Amino acid sequence: MKKKRVFSGVQPTGNLHLGNYLGAIDNFVNLQNKFECIYCVVDLHAITNHQDPKQLKSNILETVASFVASGLSTEKNIIFNQASVAAHSELAWIFNCVSRIGWMNRMTQFKEKAGSNKENASVGLLVYPNLMAADILIYKATHVPVGEDQKQHLELTRDIAKKFNNDFKCKDFFPIVEPLISKDIPRVMSLRNGKKKMSKSDDSDYSRINLKDDKDLINLKIKKATTDADSIPSEISGLKDRAEAKNLLSIYASINKTNLEKVLKDFGGKNFSTLKSSLSETIIEKICPIGKEITKLLQDEKYLTTILKKGTNKADLIAKENIKEIYNLIGLTKFT
Ligand code: TYM
Repeated sequence: MKKKRVFSGVQPTGNLHLGNYLGAIDNFVNLQNKFECIYCVVDLHAITNHQDPKQLKSNILETVASFVASGLSTEKNIIFNQASVAAHSELAWIFNCVSRIGWMNRMTQFKEKAGSNKENASVGLLVYPNLMAADILIYKATHVPVGEDQKQHLELTRDIAKKFNNDFKCKDFFPIVEPLISKDIPRVMSLRNGKKKMSKSDDSDYSRINLKDDKDLINLKIKKATTDADSIPSEISGLKDRAEAKNLLSIYASINKTNLEKVLKDFGGKNFSTLKSSLSETIIEKICPIGKEITKLLQDEKYLTTILKKGTNKADLIAKENIKEIYNLIGLTKFT
């Protein structure tokens, strides 16, 4: 049986939040004891939208600090930034030639991010999923922990792998990746609108809990979170058409490492203020130490850059070997 290899990435666009944590980073931490894991700060993805250069540099370090503060071991995992390993970009170009324009046009994230003015979006934003496929496949990763919003991109990654294996007659060369998406909370929703996902780009800071929020702010945001007038049901069926209620209860379940049924058993019949005070308490207990650790780690830039250098050396070794094989399959030669 082939060895399992995990890969995932997080954009360094600042303000990592509870959605990133429960949807992805917490899973990264669980996986580190079971598999070989590669976790990447995907800075090349971030520039598909304009980034202030100084801010980008500090956001890259902050993302590494967030990984470590959340419990990712720098010994067990390969932690690095995408721009340090050139083979990501090389394979992305190859995938630009394998992937089809029709496939890109179907991507819902592009449509959401480009908004009404599609003509003015960067070409990078359109071909973003090809770079994402390259990130994963340059390591021949088999499993990818992500939030549900990335599922379509992973389906595309599977299509690209199949087409490449077929076009270049190299059956099983690229693995067909499996997404690892939390069953309990595939998508953490905004605290203000249960139909929108929690996102760093939401104008309202009250829509999300940031990893660096302090105790008072977390209390205030949960207090202000939208709910409805009914009490908490005892059964999941009682959450139908109650997106905000379901979101708060699912966050509670996820952060307490239990499930929705059990939470409904405990809170059924009670009002939301009871749930909200328990929820604030648990979030504060879990998130505030991470936020404090991020702030502490950010004071030691040298430590953070050492982590990136060490991770880059390891990642580059695997990627260089694989890009050599890929060039060979295609008939490309580096005359060096
Ligand atoms: P990004 O940087 O937007 O988000 C990082 C991770 O957090 C998850 N996430 C959420 N999960 C649940 N609920 C939410 N509200 C929520 N918001 C964000 C995302 O699903 C993601 O797992 N394209 C990716 C980055 C990427 C990548 C990759 C991921 C680039 N290359 C290769 C995996 C493999 C992105 O923009 O994630």
